[in-house]
Amino acid sequence: MPPTHPSHWNAIYQKSQPEKLGWYEAAPQPSLGLINACNLPKDARMLHVGVGASTLLDALLEEDYSELIACDISEEALLKAQDRLGAEARKMTWIVDDLTDPNLLAGLAPVDLWHDRAVLHFFTEEKDQQTYFDLLRKLLKTGGYAIIATYNLEGVDQCAGLPVKRYNAHMLAEQLGPDFQLVQAIDYTYYMPSGDERPYVYTVFQRVVFSTVLFSTD
Ligand SMILES: C[S@@+](CC[C@H](N)C(=O)[O-])C[C@H]1O[C@@H](n2cnc3c(N)ncnc32)[C@H](O)[C@@H]1O
Repeated sequence: MPPTHPSHWNAIYQKSQPEKLGWYEAAPQPSLGLINACNLPKDARMLHVGVGASTLLDALLEEDYSELIACDISEEALLKAQDRLGAEARKMTWIVDDLTDPNLLAGLAPVDLWHDRAVLHFFTEEKDQQTYFDLLRKLLKTGGYAIIATYNLEGVDQCAGLPVKRYNAHMLAEQLGPDFQLVQAIDYTYYMPSGDERPYVYTVFQRVVFSTVLFSTD
C-alpha cells in the first residue's frame, strides 16, 4: 500500500475526533494570519490541499472568504469538517483527490492561493514531490501566493505512522523555481494536544513574472 493511500488516512479520521489528532489547532495560526497578510480580495480562489478537518476552514468562512476549495485524500476527514460546519459547508467546494495522482484537481480553474499545512512532508518519493509541485505550478495564477508549512530541519522524521521529508525555505524555493519569490519564512513551534513540540517552517511565496530573455551587449 503506498504511504499516501486513502485508507491509511480514513482509518485515522475514523478512529479519532479531529481535536485529538496530533496536528489539531483550535486557532489555525500562523496560517490564518499569513493568508490575511496576502491581502487578497474576499472572492479570491483559495485552494487548501490536504486540509483534513482543519478549523482553518471555519475561520476563513468567518472572515468572509467566499471561494474556498477544500481538498483531501480522505473523504472521512472532509465529512468531519462538513459535519462541524453544518449549513456553512455548502458555501465551499469539496474535493476528494490525491495530490500524488491528481484527477479532479488537475481540471480545476486557476487559483489565487495554494495553502498546505503538513501535507507535502509526507511525500518522500521524488516522483510524488514532482507531481505536487507540477500541480501547484499548473494551478497557481501569476501574482498568486503559495503558503507551504512543513516540518523544518529540526522536526521529527515520522508523523501519523509515516516517514516525512523535512524542509527549509531554501529547499522549497528550489523546488518551486525562479518564478516564485519568497515573501516570508518563519520557524514556528506547534504544540500537539499531548503537549509535545513539533517545529515547522511556514513559507509564503508569490508567483512573479520570470523572464528568460537574455540581453546581448552587441
Ligand atoms: C497531518 S494532516 C494535516 C491536516 C491539515 N492540513 C491540518 O493542518 O490540520 C495531513 C493531511 O493530508 C492528507 N493527505 C495525505 N496524503 C494526501 C494526498 N496524497 N493527497 C491529498 N491529501 C493527502 C491527510 O488525509 C491529512 O488530512
